[in-house]
Amino acid sequence: MQPILELDAVTKSFGGLRVTSGVSFSIEKGSISAIIGPNGAGKTTLFNQITGYLNPDHGRIVFEGEDITRLSTREIVARGMGRAFQVTSFFPEETVLDNIRVACLSRLNMTRKTMKSVSEFTDATDKAFSILESLGLDKQADRQAFELAHGDQKLLDIGIALGLEPKMLLLDEPTSGMSPEERLLTRNLIQKLWKEFNLTLLFIEHDMDTVFGIAQTVRVLQMGRLLAEGSPEEIRRNPEVITAYLGEEVL
Ligand SMILES: Nc1ncnc2c1ncn2[C@@H]1O[C@H](COP(=O)(O)OP(=O)(O)OP(=O)(O)O)[C@@H](O)[C@H]1O
Ligand SMILES: [Mg+2]
Repeated sequence: MQPILELDAVTKSFGGLRVTSGVSFSIEKGSISAIIGPNGAGKTTLFNQITGYLNPDHGRIVFEGEDITRLSTREIVARGMGRAFQVTSFFPEETVLDNIRVACLSRLNMTRKTMKSVSEFTDATDKAFSILESLGLDKQADRQAFELAHGDQKLLDIGIALGLEPKMLLLDEPTSGMSPEERLLTRNLIQKLWKEFNLTLLFIEHDMDTVFGIAQTVRVLQMGRLLAEGSPEEIRRNPEVITAYLGEEVL
């Protein structure tokens, strides 16, 4: 296995509460995998540590062989880590196109280190349009972001992350608040994006059809600890996981 991301005993407390506790796992380059677990298990807090929004109290996070534990979010993004949020985080008054174009321009600035130019703006526009097409949002390019339906706003957030050209993409509950039909479409879209953009994809999700439908590996967090890690079939049958989270309905 060629790991792209390695967590070693990542630990974080808020006050007396250990929110992530000695979490260790490795993510294989090019894989698609999921993190599941009850509300408050520490899933989002783990993403916040991977992406530099929070510093772990203890432990180590290694991305492509480099220790990123104490780097800033900006430095981590520049190395190719992308993220879409549990609560969407775009500019609501700007157009759909502009939201993604800003991300594309920001990536160009990170890599080219040139002054802003007309050609750079054109490149960013082309790239933003191709991302919108991949997401099926191209017809809505000129609408203000706040006008989009909830499901499309979630996709826009993914589009902004893609504009930064990530090697690895973290999605925090990409199907939350969606109808069953939208969830199915989004599940298929995530799988398509994973292949089309050559991503390593790690997602947090409560929708078990999405998790068991597209994840190659599933990790279960409970009370800040990694309770289990395995193939969808192994996780489905794991008695501890069933007791802690899955219940009987998905058997
Ligand atoms: N900044 C913070 N300060 C204090 N406590 C926090 C902070 N962020 C999260 N917590 C607490 O940490 C615990 C884990 O929260 P987290 O958001 O990581 O859970 P989660 O697994 O993502 O849950 P959900 O499935 O509901 O999104 C919760 O008890 C939460 O209240
Ligand atoms: Mg969360």
